[in-house]
Amino acid sequence: MVITNLIILFIKPKPNKGLFKVWDLAIMNNRKFFVYQLLQWNKRDNTREMPWKYEIDPYKIWISEIILQQTRVGQGLEYYNRFIKRFPNVQDIALADEDEVFKFWEGLGYYSRCKNIIASANYIYKVLKGIFPNNYEEILQLKGVGSYTASAIASFAYNLPHAVLDGNVYRVLSRYFGIKNPIDNTEGKKYYSSLAHELLDKKKAGIYNQSIMDFGATVCKPLPLCTICPLNTKCVAFLNELTQVLPVKEKSIVKRNRWMYYLVVECRKNFYVKKREGKDIWQNLYEFILIEKNKELSINKLQASKEFVSIFGKNLFSIKNISRVYRQQLTHQIIQGRFLHLISKKQVDVKDYQLLSPEKIKKLPFPKFINTYLRD
Ligand code: ADE
Repeated sequence: MVITNLIILFIKPKPNKGLFKVWDLAIMNNRKFFVYQLLQWNKRDNTREMPWKYEIDPYKIWISEIILQQTRVGQGLEYYNRFIKRFPNVQDIALADEDEVFKFWEGLGYYSRCKNIIASANYIYKVLKGIFPNNYEEILQLKGVGSYTASAIASFAYNLPHAVLDGNVYRVLSRYFGIKNPIDNTEGKKYYSSLAHELLDKKKAGIYNQSIMDFGATVCKPLPLCTICPLNTKCVAFLNELTQVLPVKEKSIVKRNRWMYYLVVECRKNFYVKKREGKDIWQNLYEFILIEKNKELSINKLQASKEFVSIFGKNLFSIKNISRVYRQQLTHQIIQGRFLHLISKKQVDVKDYQLLSPEKIKKLPFPKFINTYLRD
């Protein structure tokens, strides 16, 4: 035994020298191969550049991760740069006017993210004396931060051993290991979570997490680049033509249809607007007078509706313009609607709406749906 080991020691080539790779890769088990190749790929071939990459300020990482929760990198980049320029640290958000913070989020969607950032910034500033939490459990306590985001912040900022699991990681793991468990039920999530944790290179948690996400985003994409993939010799999906089957999802999304009829009521050169409250979409953004329906209505039917009648009563108004139909797809909803620019000499009967000048309105944050109309 001792002799065999000695022989192997002598004939085994030195690490990173020619034959080592062939030798060691051949005898590596699937998991080791996976981690090794991923880190090698990151060192040699990962050309993805993003301003938050290798950032270690937890505040900046937090903002980037919240932006990327529901936004593609391409769109998020510009928002991130503008946001960080205006609010370079947590205190700048805590001391700013809420409407201004929302103005910097305007157009990004999922506005509860911005609301949570403001709440967490206030909490860090006031309760934690401006010091960002430095461990997973406390990071997880921040509003809007789930296990993915807490792992990303903990590993990127502090190199703590927490594995990230986002859409990219699910795709890479399910394909390489040929996992058929759905990624959207509790059991499946648990399975992936423990596998991800076992695979994590605990000493290089930040780099490993960044590598697997970038790999999923640039090589193991929904339409993957299998021919140039350094994992293809052991990838179950590639070897069995399953790349378009994996990962498996259990639930399909049924989209809700919403019709928004906005009455852009002008009264002495001012307009009625209101801040949206509650748990619905476009939280904390402003809007014109809204009549919402779950199906399309003709303009005549809209004018005869009880909502419309209760707003105008016997007041006279004139119609300046009726817009085309605007449409926006959200993950779970299809929003459609029209804008009716109406002129009224007298004030109309609406609660909670303020009559504001166009100059004031310009400073307020609006949903993209409304801004598209305003720009047209
Ligand atoms: N998606 C979300 N966060 C990311 C990051 N830090 N790198 C790559 N993709 C990401």
